[in-house]
Amino acid sequence: MFRSIKGTKDILPDEIYKWQFVEKILRENFHRFNYKEIRTPIFEQTSLFSRSIGESTDIVGKEMYSFLDRSQDSLTLKPEGTASVIRAFIQNNLGEAHQLTKVYYISPMFRQERPQAGRLRQFHQFGAEAIGSSNASVDADVIALAISIYNSFKIENNILEINSVGCPKCRPQYRTILQKELLTVADKLSPESRQRIMHNPMRVLDSKDESDKNATKEMPLIFNFLCSDCQNHFSDLQKYLNLFKIPFTINNRLVRGLDYYTRTAFEISNSSLGSQDALAGGGRYDLLCEELGGKSTPSVGFAAGIERLLMVLEKNKNIDFNSEAPEIYFVSADETAREFCIKTTIDMRLNKISAECDYLNRSVKAQMRDANRQNAKFVAVIGEREIESKSINLKQMSDGKETHVTLNSLQKFLTKHTD
Ligand code: HAM
Repeated sequence: MFRSIKGTKDILPDEIYKWQFVEKILRENFHRFNYKEIRTPIFEQTSLFSRSIGESTDIVGKEMYSFLDRSQDSLTLKPEGTASVIRAFIQNNLGEAHQLTKVYYISPMFRQERPQAGRLRQFHQFGAEAIGSSNASVDADVIALAISIYNSFKIENNILEINSVGCPKCRPQYRTILQKELLTVADKLSPESRQRIMHNPMRVLDSKDESDKNATKEMPLIFNFLCSDCQNHFSDLQKYLNLFKIPFTINNRLVRGLDYYTRTAFEISNSSLGSQDALAGGGRYDLLCEELGGKSTPSVGFAAGIERLLMVLEKNKNIDFNSEAPEIYFVSADETAREFCIKTTIDMRLNKISAECDYLNRSVKAQMRDANRQNAKFVAVIGEREIESKSINLKQMSDGKETHVTLNSLQKFLTKHTD
């Protein structure tokens, strides 16, 4: 028997309504903030990702699904969306039409990580990229968009952490000093962090490992090394976040696992998620466009995991997923009513009301069970009397309340209750 690949999941018919509900709310938010959707291919040249995310990152070093196609070209299933979006932006000259290009995506992504709760090998991200401005108000706008999304799902207790990771003017000096300091405590670091001293020292400060945390307690932090432009940018970001009344904490150790960031880096986490607590992450990447062969185009964006959002929603219980259950289920009391039920069901559907009935000649009891299982909002038992009087008793399944309606007014009644 074939099984799905480890770290991937089928999204089954009984749970798809949650995804569709989430996607609907996401799109509403993106449109409110005036972002337009972009859909890029599921695979790209491998070098697009190694160039942008960085050779020394975990994603490029150990997690990408790369393969040679029949022409011996190395291709990779996209592990994240930003690189593809910028590739598409350059290739299609999107910057010509708008000085500030604002796009969003909802897409599967692929990383060969160790699967656990909230960490999959095929997962789904929603994200947004604002391409074409270095102004910190755009960083704040992107953060406000992410926060607005979680607010629409009534997700509380989120923590927003921000940092500035500097720019090529100030970061190299800090890196050198940090490297020197880290070498003095190398024997106390985890093997992973020890390896990072030379090629990615700032990531050592971001390590979750307890021994790394202890050994780097006194290390110099980037904040004291930022050039004046980066300092001003970071204080502007804080000014805008305060203006938008978005609470945040500054975490000078926040670096994130992708190398393309300059200046702003941020993460939104939720403690109810346990060890994989990052709901969303993002930041500014002013050099990426040029790095990939385009014009210098300062940009900022974020991405977030849909599976993690669903995990929080399911813990929160206070959200009505607005399921796609049938509005009405017609139960036939006897054989003669069956044909009538099937015909009325079709009439309802053609009039934009979702309806269901029995096609398997089941008993009344079994039909009631089916209506329950399908979460039908209303049930009507149809027999000779109902057909003759052209009126029915509608039972509202949530509270058992019964309403008598004529068949003529049924559609109107249900439309009112659907809205
Ligand atoms: P990232 O932090 O690698 O950033 O991923 C963003 C979010 O995707 C994470 O916070 C998490 O919710 C989700 N995620 C990542 N890996 C997995 C996984 N294996 N299973 C489930 N969920 C996962 C980026 O991808 C950047 N492209 C964000 C960005 C956009 N920066 C600027 N623009």
